[in-house]
Amino acid sequence: MRVAVSNFKGGVGKTVVAQHLANAAALDGYRVLVVDFDPQATLTHSMGLVDVKEWNTVWGIMCRDLCKESDRIMATYDDPDDCPYPASDELPEDVQSTGSQRVQDFIQKTCWPTIDIIPSCANAAFVEFASAQYRALHQAWSFFGCVARYLDELPDDQYDIIIFDCPPAIGYQSLSAAFAADILYVPSGPDYWEYDSTTSFLGQLGDALEDISTGFKGLSADAGIDLPKRFLDVRLLMTKYETSNPLHNAMMDAFKNVFGANVCQSPVEMTRAVEQSGRFQNSVYEQDYRQMTRETWKRARQSFDLAYVEFIDVVKTAWKNNTDIMEGKK
Ligand SMILES: Nc1ncnc2c1ncn2[C@@H]1O[C@H](COP(=O)(O)OP(=O)(O)OP(=O)(O)O)[C@@H](O)[C@H]1O
Ligand SMILES: [Mg+2]
Repeated sequence: MRVAVSNFKGGVGKTVVAQHLANAAALDGYRVLVVDFDPQATLTHSMGLVDVKEWNTVWGIMCRDLCKESDRIMATYDDPDDCPYPASDELPEDVQSTGSQRVQDFIQKTCWPTIDIIPSCANAAFVEFASAQYRALHQAWSFFGCVARYLDELPDDQYDIIIFDCPPAIGYQSLSAAFAADILYVPSGPDYWEYDSTTSFLGQLGDALEDISTGFKGLSADAGIDLPKRFLDVRLLMTKYETSNPLHNAMMDAFKNVFGANVCQSPVEMTRAVEQSGRFQNSVYEQDYRQMTRETWKRARQSFDLAYVEFIDVVKTAWKNNTDIMEGKK
């Protein structure tokens, strides 16, 4: 199952949530891949990788996909001269060389034996600009499907759970994350403006997915993408929550009034242990509890554990529903 942790509101705790869910899933015995879609690369850095090159990021995956799709589309023409789009050897040289990498070349090890990462780096920021340029080069390229197609190439039994950490934006990268995801996890802080931004995000993302689903309808089946895009589940996860703060309680009620059962029951609490985790570059699951008071560590650990129990239930239910759909039972 692939889960995108996404929201265009910045600083709501996307990366902290992605990292802790990945740690908790690994401790629970699952094989995890995390994909960092954000050129801020916080997840990459917090997992200990600092020297990442842009050709090893999602940008590289995009170039590889453009090369492969160019050749696939070219091969659908009896006479290549009739094809109005370029073949891979007519694409810019950096796209060709980056695109010649193999599937596993993008995957790197972390210090957790059962967590691998497709990292990001600041240079990958130009991916947004490059995406628009590449789209103009090949207008039949379903750019938004690049990560989905890439992950489809991985052996089915390589990972159990794949978690995406998305940038605070709706752009080419977060759209390709959304198209590759089975489940959308949307963290939001308990402040009114975070709520306001989160609701706009859901509206905007819905519109973007619908526009693409309509615009690319004819091209999608051959390109391995099911349109219209449907998530198996969408969940809102309240973060930085203070149980004893009446304003936070009121915002939680507002979220539940609007989004009902899609709101996670267990919010992630605001805790000093997460602040410390930045300082020591360790997640709450990696921390030495003696670096703070035991109560602080325990409260943080409990909060992430509860959020994880709910998360894994969402993942397993989605897995089961998906299996039923594929076997024609639903
Ligand atoms: N539960 C929490 N308790 C205390 N601090 C938190 C908590 N969750 C996140 N933070 C802090 O809030 C800041 C933003 O968190 P994070 O980087 O996870 O947000 P983000 O949504 O990924 O941000 P961006 O949009 O920039 O990618 C960080 O300094 C982090 O340490
Ligand atoms: Mg982040």
